[in-house]
Amino acid sequence: MTLKITSEIDIVKAKTSKIKEVDFENIAFGNIFTDHMLVCDFKDGAWEKPSIKPYEPFMIDPSAKVFHYGQAIFEGMKAYRDDNDQVWLFRPDQNLERFNKSAVRMAMPEITEDIFIDGLKAIVELDKDWVKKGLGNTLYIRPFMIAIGSGVIAQPSTQYRFMIILSPARAYYSGEVKVIIAEHYSRAANGGIGAAKAAGNYSSQFYPQKLAQEKGFQQIIWTDDATHTKLEEAGTMNVFFRFNDTICTAPASERILDGVTRKSLIAIAKRDGIKVEERSVLVSELVEGAKNGSLKEIFGAGTAAVVSPIVGFQYQEHYYELPKLENSIALELKDKLTKIQYNLAEDTFGWMVKI
Ligand code: COI
Repeated sequence: MTLKITSEIDIVKAKTSKIKEVDFENIAFGNIFTDHMLVCDFKDGAWEKPSIKPYEPFMIDPSAKVFHYGQAIFEGMKAYRDDNDQVWLFRPDQNLERFNKSAVRMAMPEITEDIFIDGLKAIVELDKDWVKKGLGNTLYIRPFMIAIGSGVIAQPSTQYRFMIILSPARAYYSGEVKVIIAEHYSRAANGGIGAAKAAGNYSSQFYPQKLAQEKGFQQIIWTDDATHTKLEEAGTMNVFFRFNDTICTAPASERILDGVTRKSLIAIAKRDGIKVEERSVLVSELVEGAKNGSLKEIFGAGTAAVVSPIVGFQYQEHYYELPKLENSIALELKDKLTKIQYNLAEDTFGWMVKI
């Protein structure tokens, strides 16, 4: 599939590029940004013409609602360069759809397909030298929307800013990932904003995550808020559990993000005859499985981390180490997904979109 540009975008190019200052072999996730950013404001009930300009700070009123009420949403996506120097996006339609679901939940205006998809195409095209060749090199794409209307009355803003910024990225996690199962804190509740990619969903994890890190764990496996008995997500990722030869993951719900990596792994697994169950997985099953050996793997799945194998988990002060496997389904699925993304394997699903 090739993207067609339909909307007009004003483009002001950066006078000089920062690209030569970047050591692409040693980049920490999310710290470096490319030369340009896309900006599009919503005012008087309509989206204005988008523009692409040099990446730089901008001014907004200190009373803007984003600062006081956290009216902010985002997406995470990636661009990949194949061996023939073609640059690709992965399922951008899915990010657009989820972005607009998040917008509705946060009482923000939906973005148009023209602005989101054409904007992506135009900015990635402009900064495509930042998408490096080779497995593991990606350009992380961060579309987001903030409420820029001023006034501290607790009501939705009438003015918004949609932006796309780009960051060259390699691995999200370095080293082993150990997790602790949430017994007190929660990420989401029924009727809440767990299914939205809202900024507050992430900042509310920072404190429990800090406590977990102080105990030597990189991430928390979130459980349901009501009973803390059902396993729901791992940190900022969806989570899969492998019991014998079946992989299980909680169904997307109003508490659980409908992850693009999650659903892509499920589709690949089903295509290739790997048994998948989308169902609630209980903490008790996990503990039992760790004790009787049927629990083989736990892995997180998300755009930033792709597939992140988890080496062990702690529950009720007891640490359970997972076996080291030769035939990891997590790594098999990761390999199959990344080969599609880098155009090294046939894209039987029609997921990839050419820039
Ligand atoms: C992603 O995987 O894209 C996410 O949204 C996680 C983010 C916190 C880096």
